[in-house]
Amino acid sequence: MNENISVIIPTFCEADNLIPLIQAIDDVLSSQNYEVLLMDDNSPDNSAEITQQLSQNYPLKLITRLHNHGLALAVIDGFKQAQGDYIVVMDADLSHPAKTIVEMVDLLATNRADFVIGSRFVKGGKIDGSWHLGRHLNSKIATFLSSLLVKAKDPMSGFFAFRKIDCPPLKNLNPIGYKIGLELMVKGNFKHIVELPIFFKKRTFGKSKLNTKEQWNYLRHLHRLYQFAYPRLSELFQFGLVGLNGMVVDLCVYLLAQWLFASPHMIARIVSFWFAASANWLFNRKTTFKTRLRKPKIKQWLAFISTSSLGFVVNVGSYYLLTTQILFFYHYPLIAFFIGIGLGFFLNFLLASKWVFKST
Ligand code: GDD
Ligand code: MN
Repeated sequence: MNENISVIIPTFCEADNLIPLIQAIDDVLSSQNYEVLLMDDNSPDNSAEITQQLSQNYPLKLITRLHNHGLALAVIDGFKQAQGDYIVVMDADLSHPAKTIVEMVDLLATNRADFVIGSRFVKGGKIDGSWHLGRHLNSKIATFLSSLLVKAKDPMSGFFAFRKIDCPPLKNLNPIGYKIGLELMVKGNFKHIVELPIFFKKRTFGKSKLNTKEQWNYLRHLHRLYQFAYPRLSELFQFGLVGLNGMVVDLCVYLLAQWLFASPHMIARIVSFWFAASANWLFNRKTTFKTRLRKPKIKQWLAFISTSSLGFVVNVGSYYLLTTQILFFYHYPLIAFFIGIGLGFFLNFLLASKWVFKST
């Protein structure tokens, strides 16, 4: 087998790992047509000199990136430069076994896979014993959160391969942080994803850049991916969050109006509704429906207040009807209470999405 392979490796301060890394890759690919692209974010160590020397003996290119730093963006830059028909992405810190590359490319070349993951969590896969409980838990939670996006045991892996022609248009890719493999699987059209077991080694030299900021970035990235994969459901969810926030505003204004201004409770109730509905309008305009048509604020605000009032009437009205007309709900009014909230909420969402924040 002689394939055209581009191995893309994001690097930042990996000078000590470069020699063993490039040797390990060449050991398994020397009989093939391959290139290694080191996508380096201008490391302040001596990566550049080492690469310079290595490139005399190996098909190696160092691409020094001065802007848009970050792992995932570095990898995307690599896609633009890659010459090979097969793209392999791996880390520089020797965590990923180079020998798996051959099997990955073989699966792609024979059409037995469209996307191959070097996986720590399939049978035969392993993690170096030194991972502490925190990192295991972290990894499990991260994977669980992505489970509605991709059916794979290790979608977080930074070791994966695919055919270059299957790469989704680069303009559609906008990952934040580390999870470029996940981004590709969600946005690309890879029918058959195969996971090969790997032994994920702990890095010996240098240190991991995965920190709390990256975890926060991961949540932001997930948010984007869910919006991409489930646009309507994400809107509904976001609308619900805004609604919950509105309930807090409602309660605070209702109580404060009585405590601070000795307002009668009925007045406080009406005033707090206006505050809550206005807050909901503002947050929905800024978040849930931020990509919808920009309409004049006052008109849209009034429209939102009226649909919210209607939702409120349906909420309380259905509660009233259920508890007075159906004996069951007379005995279990709390169920009627939640049905009312649900009906009001859906009506509000429908009207907000189809009318108040209409797209065209
Ligand atoms: N260009 C560039 N820019 N490269 C970077 C940057 C950056 O800002 N940050 C990290 N890298 C490079 C590192 O030099 C290394 O080659 C690779 O990306 C992985 O970085 P590590 O810091 O070693 O990450 P990790 O071991 O914590 O995370 C790895 O495992 C995770 C799963 O546990 C990565 O493969 C993640 O993608 C993966 O999700
Ligand atoms: Mn690492």
